[in-house]
Amino acid sequence: MTPDAANGGEGRAAEERELAEAAPFSAEERAAVYRAIVTRRDVRDEFMPDDVPDDVLRRLLEAAHHAPSVGFMQPWNFIVIRDAAVRSRVREAFERAAAAEAEMLEPERREQYRSLKLQGISKAPLNICVTCDRARHGRTGLGRTQQPDTDLLSTACAVQNLWLAARAEGIGVGWVSILREPDLRAILSIPSEIAIVAYLCVGRVARAYVRPELEVRRWARRLPLDDLVFADRWGAAAPFPRERE
Ligand SMILES: Cc1cc2nc3c(=O)[nH]c(=O)nc-3n(C[C@H](O)[C@H](O)[C@H](O)COP(=O)(O)O)c2cc1C
Repeated sequence: MTPDAANGGEGRAAEERELAEAAPFSAEERAAVYRAIVTRRDVRDEFMPDDVPDDVLRRLLEAAHHAPSVGFMQPWNFIVIRDAAVRSRVREAFERAAAAEAEMLEPERREQYRSLKLQGISKAPLNICVTCDRARHGRTGLGRTQQPDTDLLSTACAVQNLWLAARAEGIGVGWVSILREPDLRAILSIPSEIAIVAYLCVGRVARAYVRPELEVRRWARRLPLDDLVFADRWGAAAPFPRERE
């Protein structure tokens, strides 16, 4: 055997050792995962003032950091904000942005919009700004030459991981996007080359809505899944659940 072939064999053996069983979870474990997914809520007003313990916060950030990312780019950073003065500046920025958004709505929708609670910036004891370093491994990278925005999508995956882990920990999360980017950039000293993906309000909750609050308040409703699934090409209705061929 040539030395190269021997190395190949060793390489394969080493690769084998990296593979572990990936059997389905137990019924109880599966139920827990789906429960986290279905009962995760966007929280605005149910935050309790207690601080989020450091070990819990660490687990949430670890969950975020285990998200998939294009080319394993891991483009995220997490700015953990506890300072009440900083949160109050963000809150003021929200008020300005929400007033501007309300003006863009039809009059009857505007009144309803103004009645909605759309953030928990000061009520939540902790805020987290999630950013994306678009040049972390150079301007392009594996998977990004054709789809450059996949770095932003990866960062959104990190947010969702955090959100689900938080549900399991009894921690509520609210995503606030009614913020002008330049305001947030200035308040948090975020450099111009770093993209802002999410601003999250985070804190312990004892209760949460069973359905999305925007559904409870008749702003929108969950669409029927069957209308959203196509078979083999755009627009072709799919028998659902799909029948086995
Ligand atoms: C990208 C993104 C931005 C959002 N921005 C806001 C926001 O600014 N204010 C707000 O109250 N909710 C915001 N939400 C929460 C949505 O309103 C919420 O996810 C939706 O109504 C469904 O409710 P649920 O998350 O409780 O299932 C945002 C959610 C996402 C994914």
